[in-house]
Amino acid sequence: MEGGISSSLGLRPADAFAARLAQAEDARLAVVLGAFVADLHALIDTYAITRSELHGVLLFATEVGHACSDQRQEWALLADVLGLTSGVENQMSRRPVAATPNTLPGPFYRADAPRRRDGESISLDQKGQPLTFRASVVDLDARPVPHAQIEVWQANADGIYENQAPDQQPEFNLRGIFRANALGRATIRTVRPAGYAVPGDGPVGQLMARLAISLIRPAHIHVRITAAGFQPLTTHVFDRSDPALDQDPLFAVHPQLLADFTPAEPGTRGGANAPVPHWCAEHRFTLAPTAPDAAPDTADAQAD
Ligand SMILES: [Fe+2]
Repeated sequence: MEGGISSSLGLRPADAFAARLAQAEDARLAVVLGAFVADLHALIDTYAITRSELHGVLLFATEVGHACSDQRQEWALLADVLGLTSGVENQMSRRPVAATPNTLPGPFYRADAPRRRDGESISLDQKGQPLTFRASVVDLDARPVPHAQIEVWQANADGIYENQAPDQQPEFNLRGIFRANALGRATIRTVRPAGYAVPGDGPVGQLMARLAISLIRPAHIHVRITAAGFQPLTTHVFDRSDPALDQDPLFAVHPQLLADFTPAEPGTRGGANAPVPHWCAEHRFTLAPTAPDAAPDTADAQAD
């Protein structure tokens, strides 16, 4: 005991803390926390962090905590906009290069969405510009994956999910579970989604505003696909024409996840008397096989 304490006397706080971690029973916690604290000490040295700057960090952390409630998780939002959530997701769900990238599910997923027939519309209020979305599911050799389950959920034309506005949209509006046919294909009738902003009225939003970082998510459809023998895929399909593609605050945009939203019939996009545009989009999803020794997929646990 005496030797352990005396041996750290005279060390810099960074080194003394690292020495104390040697006694920890949780080796992974000690290693990861040690690396984190070492990086923080390096920041102090490199940038000559002041007392008032440290106080500002502690004040910000306090505000983030106070902004949390049963309906809001400001810490999770902070992890999202710093790229930590997507970083962990990417690390935990590495797929072969040819497979469709997995992404975070976002906060608006519901596990109890209704099942829909092929070709059925998930727009229960018929508000918005109609969109026919054709999905196909294949394996790494481009062979169809028959009867895959394809679950979709999306915001409406105003960028709002039904569970954000239960008084303004029918329950389960713009979400549903489809079953692909024997060729791995499904047709989903919906409306064209709009992008939306993640919550900006709390301390995280204020920090992002100070940094001139956008909170606007580009328009997208969330998709979750499951099929026997394959790793579950939770991903997005983004509107390739959205100008916010390279600014997604959740870092979920991958080049493989872009889709063209094209007019169903030429000429329906313009003119003062033009009918409501009808759009088409299609996307092919490539599943990776389940690894023989794969750990359980954790995407479900994050679909909060
Ligand atoms: Fe979303």
